[in-house]
Amino acid sequence: MAAVALVQGASRGLGLEFCRYLLLNKSPAAIIATCRNPDAAQHLSALSAQHAGRMTVLKLDVSREDDIKRAAESVKSAFGKVDLIINSSAMLHPSGKGETSLRDVSAQGTISTLATNTVGPLVMAKYFVPLLQNGTGAFGQQPLKKEKQHSGIIVNMTARVGSIGDNALGGWYSYRMSKAALNMATRNLSIELGRGRSKIVCVSLHPGTVNTDLSRPYHRNVTKDKLFSTEYSVQCLMNIIDTLNIDKSGKAYAWDSSEIPW
Ligand SMILES: NC(=O)c1ccc[n+]([C@@H]2O[C@H](COP(=O)([O-])OP(=O)(O)OC[C@H]3O[C@@H](n4cnc5c(N)ncnc54)[C@H](OP(=O)(O)O)[C@@H]3O)[C@@H](O)[C@H]2O)c1
Repeated sequence: MAAVALVQGASRGLGLEFCRYLLLNKSPAAIIATCRNPDAAQHLSALSAQHAGRMTVLKLDVSREDDIKRAAESVKSAFGKVDLIINSSAMLHPSGKGETSLRDVSAQGTISTLATNTVGPLVMAKYFVPLLQNGTGAFGQQPLKKEKQHSGIIVNMTARVGSIGDNALGGWYSYRMSKAALNMATRNLSIELGRGRSKIVCVSLHPGTVNTDLSRPYHRNVTKDKLFSTEYSVQCLMNIIDTLNIDKSGKAYAWDSSEIPW
């Protein structure tokens, strides 16, 4: 059976670009794109129409466990396995801007950010791991030694600002906390899922500062050469994904393949 890749949070930005890249460069892989409102995801619908037969769009709000469970059941009955999952969805904050100081913090804003950015990808793992364990290791590097082989890959999209060691500026409480905790989920998953016969590689990837809606309020602070296109960023991240193996699991990498400290 052909490879199966699932991109969670595919309506726009990097998630949409991952779908486009996979369709163009990983034929004949089947692509499952999930988003919370397929009817409003015009670019995704257009892509799906262009690649009819290779792309499936499923409704999935990552903050709703029922949606995740239903999507996993649907993927199980249609494909029986997944080889790669990319959790791309996230928000900076429900207000669209990170908190600049403590007085901007609200309990509900922080809880919503954590629900989408951290709890969602963890619950995705809960329901999709059995399908990843049925995977055939179609993505990443397949080492010759049997005990090093993996069946699937989980990519959690993180951000450099989620690194505790790298934090010299402060601010953005909710987003930083959500990505630091997501990195802990990545590490925990890599340990639990790196055991046994069907191993799963789990990494956090930072895409650089990319020209999307998420970073738009801050574009004027970024020099032109530091603001990446989605095409460039996804090409760099796919280069990393193509070389992943069990020895690289449980770490965070930036777009240029450098490891990011926790
Ligand atoms: N852009 C950057 O500079 C940058 C830098 C560092 C890290 N990142 C990370 O890269 C990833 C992709 O970011 P991006 O720049 O592509 O962001 P984006 O353009 O703002 O897209 C965010 C995506 O997340 C989806 N989403 C939000 N809440 C959701 C929910 N509850 N359920 C399902 N989907 C939901 C959105 O769907 P709707 O269309 O339904 O809203 C949208 O598809 C994120 O994890 C982000 O933290 C980005």
